[in-house]
Amino acid sequence: MLKLSYSSLLVSLALISAGSVSATEADANKLAVQDQLPNQTAETYPRPPGWDKLPEGEFGEKVLRGYKNFVDTQSLSPQYTGNGLNCVNCHTDAGRKENSAPLWAAYMSYPVFRAKNNRINSFEERMQGCFMFSMNGASPDYGSDALIDLSAYAYWLAQGTLTGEDFDPKDMAVPSDAELLKGGKREDFPFMKAYLDKGGSKEPALVGRAYPTTPEPEQAPDIARGKAVFEQECSVCHGENGEGQQVNNRYVFPPLWGPDTYNWGAGMQRVNTAADFIKHNMPLGQPNKLTDQQAWDVAMYLDTRDRPQDPRTKGDVAETRKEFHGKTSYYGTEVEGKILGSESFPNHPNKPQ
Ligand code: HEC
Ligand code: HEC
Repeated sequence: MLKLSYSSLLVSLALISAGSVSATEADANKLAVQDQLPNQTAETYPRPPGWDKLPEGEFGEKVLRGYKNFVDTQSLSPQYTGNGLNCVNCHTDAGRKENSAPLWAAYMSYPVFRAKNNRINSFEERMQGCFMFSMNGASPDYGSDALIDLSAYAYWLAQGTLTGEDFDPKDMAVPSDAELLKGGKREDFPFMKAYLDKGGSKEPALVGRAYPTTPEPEQAPDIARGKAVFEQECSVCHGENGEGQQVNNRYVFPPLWGPDTYNWGAGMQRVNTAADFIKHNMPLGQPNKLTDQQAWDVAMYLDTRDRPQDPRTKGDVAETRKEFHGKTSYYGTEVEGKILGSESFPNHPNKPQ
């Protein structure tokens, strides 16, 4: 167990992860400033394994490819992405950071029932969802190499994180690809079984999973107040119009609305989910800087801006709203004189690579 602080490692990982391995020094300096701000995550969370714990051989190669795909999805999975994002943009620190939907907690939470599609979802199916909606892309096929590699990365992170300092990759059971894709929440899963045999609780404690709930604020969220928060706290990195910033054709700071970001079917377009993410992860490197009210206000501002269409639509916005969108989504509602979703950007456009 170790106190996680915003080290320069995290900041440089964010840089790499934003797809900007070739980012200029000026960008690096801009981010380094963030590093000097006081650490505001005082809680203690389990710690993911370091690269010295990478297993040798074929499985280690899968883990490494999965990691690369996660932080630079644009380069490794161009056929599956329809916007400018990488997985890591919403699962920060390469999917390792607590309260940022970390992969180690996610992996041990599947298979599980999801209301979104009304069935039990395997880990690979959950990732397909993020490709389709958050990445505005095309789902990789069941059992495809990309999903196997990403599962291997998540499995390794889960094992290392939950085993703690005793973790030795040489002792790690190597599941078959088919097993790996299902997720770890199964008594017959090698790691889960070992954990239970050791006298672990019924399920590993997954503190830090997902984005913690940010309570609804006293006042209903408000676009004008949200815009003011955006201009003060966010636009310096994400651009005046939420368009992000690119270096060498890759986003260093990801776009928040417009054609190149998450679509109207994504989790992040729900105001509560965006508020939860923002409260605990934004501004970058300053979790909990915003009040709950500010997080909800700015979340509403983002999620009332247009973005790529909901890929589940059959053409009728009102129908799509009724079928797929609850009260936490503004899709299909009238905002600033326009029905959101009526003129959205395309799904999975064939963008030049
Ligand atoms: C635009 C933001 C965004 C991007 C980009 C994104 N995701 Fe997600 N992802 C989310 C949100 C939001 C959730 C739901 C978190 C929650 O339950 O609160 C989620 C959930 C998940 C989960 C399940 C987490 C859990 O604990 O149940 C997995 C696994 C996952 N994403 C994998 C991926 C992968 C792989 C990629 C890249 C192909 C990706 N995500 C890209 C926003 C994103
Ligand atoms: C110091 C620069 C910086 C500031 C300031 C900042 N962000 Fe971010 N933001 C980032 C980076 C970089 C990422 C991608 C994180 C990663 O890849 O590790 C990101 C990711 C995001 C994402 C998920 C990815 C996407 O494109 O949708 C959202 C939403 C977001 N920021 C919202 C905000 C909001 C709202 C604010 C203001 C309260 C804010 N950010 C302030 C740098 C910043």
